[in-house]
Amino acid sequence: MLRLAWHSAGTYDVNTKTGGPFGTMRYKAELNHGANNGLDIAVRLLEPIKEQFPILSYGDFYQLAGVVAVEITGGPDVPFHPGREDKEEPPVEGRLPDATKGNDHLRDVFVKTMGLEDIDIVTLSGGHTLGAAHKERSGFEGPWTPNPLIFDNSYFTELLAGEKDGLLKLPTDKALLEDPVFRPLVDKYAADEDAFFADYAVSHMKLSELGFAEV
Ligand code: HEM
Repeated sequence: MLRLAWHSAGTYDVNTKTGGPFGTMRYKAELNHGANNGLDIAVRLLEPIKEQFPILSYGDFYQLAGVVAVEITGGPDVPFHPGREDKEEPPVEGRLPDATKGNDHLRDVFVKTMGLEDIDIVTLSGGHTLGAAHKERSGFEGPWTPNPLIFDNSYFTELLAGEKDGLLKLPTDKALLEDPVFRPLVDKYAADEDAFFADYAVSHMKLSELGFAEV
């Protein structure tokens, strides 16, 4: 659910004001984007619940699912504001980050395209405290932490601990250690979970409201 919310919002392009959290993931055209492999499962699981709440748009509903996923797994309360209007046109394919690349690419996607800031790259990467990769979906395999159903700061402690059997680190995760802006934040969040939760909640809310707040 968190990945669904992120892949919905993370297509926003601040330059063209296209993409973003406006419910277009309900369409096969967007679910068929390579980066979205497996998200059809989340969309299908949400459908019967969505039907009970026609007052919420799909855009709101997918973002609410992400916020609830963080909260019920022990993470911070992320403020949620409804009111997104569903769009009919899915974004073009290829806006979400490529896990095999480095920090220049992360800044191209998060800062230049989405309109977020450096700090958001680090806080939101901490979303990999939840869940796992699946070979048949992305080519990668395994969870980032030993407790992938608990939202905590273990993404950062594991990142600093180095390679371990059974735990995954994507090239984009490891790249955070090499950057003069990102590395001090990784160190801070590994040492101070409260600081991570506070900053994560701000970043997640910004992500969930891309293209929405100013409308
Ligand atoms: C920084 C750039 C990012 C890259 C390159 C990236 C890449 C990936 C990849 C390759 C997977 C595995 C998909 C699979 O095989 O099932 C994945 C899973 C996941 N990502 Fe990311 N991700 C990024 C950022 C984020 C952000 C910002 C969030 C949320 C705040 C997030 C949340 C998740 C979650 C929860 C999963 C696990 C899904 C599951 O358990 O099925 N990711 N990510």
